[in-house]
Amino acid sequence: MYNTAGKTFKELALDINFWRQLNPDLTITEYSRSDWGPYRLTAQQKRDVRESLIEDGYFHLHSVFAPEELKKLADAAKVLHREQWPTVFAFVYDEFWHVQNRYRDILTEMLGKEHRLMPNIWVFYINPDNESKGWGPHRDRQKIVNLRPDGTPLSINFWTPLTDATPLNGCMYALPASRDRYYSTNTSTTLAEDLQDIRALPAPVGSVLGWNETVFHWGARSSNRASEPRIAIASVFQSTECGAFETPLLPVGQLLPFEMRVGLIAQQFSRFIVQDTFSPAVQQLSQELAPYFGETIRILDDGWRYWDIMSDEPDSLREESIEKTSSNQLPTPPKGFEKGREFKSTFEEIRQARSTPSGIDEPGSKESSANGASGSDEQKSESKNWLEKLGLK
Ligand SMILES: [Fe+2]
Repeated sequence: MYNTAGKTFKELALDINFWRQLNPDLTITEYSRSDWGPYRLTAQQKRDVRESLIEDGYFHLHSVFAPEELKKLADAAKVLHREQWPTVFAFVYDEFWHVQNRYRDILTEMLGKEHRLMPNIWVFYINPDNESKGWGPHRDRQKIVNLRPDGTPLSINFWTPLTDATPLNGCMYALPASRDRYYSTNTSTTLAEDLQDIRALPAPVGSVLGWNETVFHWGARSSNRASEPRIAIASVFQSTECGAFETPLLPVGQLLPFEMRVGLIAQQFSRFIVQDTFSPAVQQLSQELAPYFGETIRILDDGWRYWDIMSDEPDSLREESIEKTSSNQLPTPPKGFEKGREFKSTFEEIRQARSTPSGIDEPGSKESSANGASGSDEQKSESKNWLEKLGLK
C-alpha cells in the first residue's frame, strides 16, 4: 500500500511508484512498445480530410480507435481527477504517448513526411455540471500564419475524446473557416457574426478531431444533464518544412524519461494560464517541477521572437532572424531548423548523462518495477546524479 503521508506534492509528482500505484493498469517505461499501429486512411478519406481542412479548417475521422482501447485511459484520467491532480498529469503514463502512433499516417498525409510533436499537450476533464466548461473561444496561434498558401496546415491540434463528447457535456464548437471572414485577413479578431454559422462538433470515443491553429473554436459549457464528464487528449504537431513554432520539438510517439515528462507537464500550466484558472498550489508546483524537463518551452510570438514561457522578464523575448515570405500575408518561420532547436540533441545528452535508469524500466523488467521494486533510495540518488550533471538540481 503506497503511503502518501508526510510527502509534498512535488515529492509525489516525482515518485514513479506513486503514479504506478495510482493507475496500475498503465505503464511508465522508456521502452514499452505500442500495440497501436497507424490508422490507414483510404484514398477517399485522404481527399475528404484535405478538403475539410482547407474548407472548414478542421477534420473529423471516425473509428480511428476501438472504444475499448481508450477505456483505461479514460479511467486513469478519472482517477487523477478524483485524487485532485490536474488531469494533464496523465501524460506520465506511456499510453498517453502511444496514442500518437495511431496518428502517424494521418500526420504524414496532412503535414508531410517530416513532422514533430510540439511541446504542447493537455488532458481535458470537464465535469458534467452546469458550472463546468471548456476553454473559451480562441484561435490557437492567432499571431502566426500556420497555413500554406493552398490553405493546408503547417500545424494541427489533434483532439482525441476519451468519453463521448456531446452538446450536453461541452463538446467542441468551431466556426468553419469558409464562414470566418477574418480567417485569412485578421486572425486577431475572434468573432462569429452569424450564429447559424457556428458548428457543434460532437465526437464519440474512437474518433479523432483535429484543427489547424488558425480556426476559431472553443469548448462549450457542460450541463447537469450530461451523463459523464467530457475527457479528451490534445497534442499539437507541426511540419518541419518551416521553422519551429515552438521549441523543443519532439519526435512523435517518443517516450521521454519519467522526470522529463513531469517537467513537460508542469510547463503546460505556464502556457495555458491564459486559458484556464490554476490554484496557487498548482502554479507553485508547476514552477518547482518545470526544470525537470531540462529545457524551457519557447513559443514563436508576435514580432517574430521566441517567448520563454517560464519567464516574465522582458529579455526572455529574443529576436530571431525570420525570413518574410510573399506567399502569405504574414510570414511563416524560416525553412529548416536552427542549430539546437531539435529536441534530439538534448534527449541524447540526457541519455548519456544518465549512468543508470532512475527508476524507469529497462527492457524486460516491467513486472518487477510495476510491483514497486524500483525507486529505492539508491536509485533516487542516481536520479539526482544525472539531474545534477545536467545542472537541474
Ligand atoms: Fe484551442
